[in-house]
Amino acid sequence: INIRQARAGDEIGMQHCNLTNLPENYDMKYYLYHFATWPTLSFVAENENGRLVGYVLAKLNEEDTTGRPDGHITSLSVMRSYRRLGLAERLMNQSQRAMLESYNSACVSLHVRVSNQAAFSLYKNTLKFEVDHTEEKYYADGEDAYAMKKNLEGLY
Ligand code: ACO
Repeated sequence: INIRQARAGDEIGMQHCNLTNLPENYDMKYYLYHFATWPTLSFVAENENGRLVGYVLAKLNEEDTTGRPDGHITSLSVMRSYRRLGLAERLMNQSQRAMLESYNSACVSLHVRVSNQAAFSLYKNTLKFEVDHTEEKYYADGEDAYAMKKNLEGLY
């Protein structure tokens, strides 16, 4: 499985993967907005036939007073038959490294459903994110989110 930077044209495959795997969905323009604004931060995984089987869609938050913008993971998913192969970990690591190298981000943040054990375990145990706080009723169906954070300094 090959991992490469996402580019215009990938929004179709990414949206398909997103619609298959997650209830939080976005229109095509939102994918293109990410590629156009932060071209180095989003990545896709392709199988041997060039079909997109996973992605990470990422952006920057507004700059804080330090002048160092935090990275933010908008969405991550991997097609079911390609799970537990380390693809999500590889996608996340590529994006985190690019946040540091392209923008000197000090931190990366994300939201995850409190019931999403697979993703929570990936973030907490494998990637060493910490829970910053809980956001009540963050999702449209009323579920709470863990707001998670990770320091990027000295990581790569
Ligand atoms: N149960 C427990 N731990 C898990 C699981 C699971 N189902 N999946 C991954 N992990 C942990 C394990 O520690 C795993 O290491 P191991 O396989 O050596 O035990 C480690 O994470 C790395 O796993 P990967 O193989 O890199 O993860 P994968 O490619 O399977 O993708 C993902 C994980 C993205 C959560 C996938 O299950 C998925 O697409 N789920 C549906 C969509 C989703 O929930 N996306 C995240 C939403 S939050 C957001 O987008 C910001």
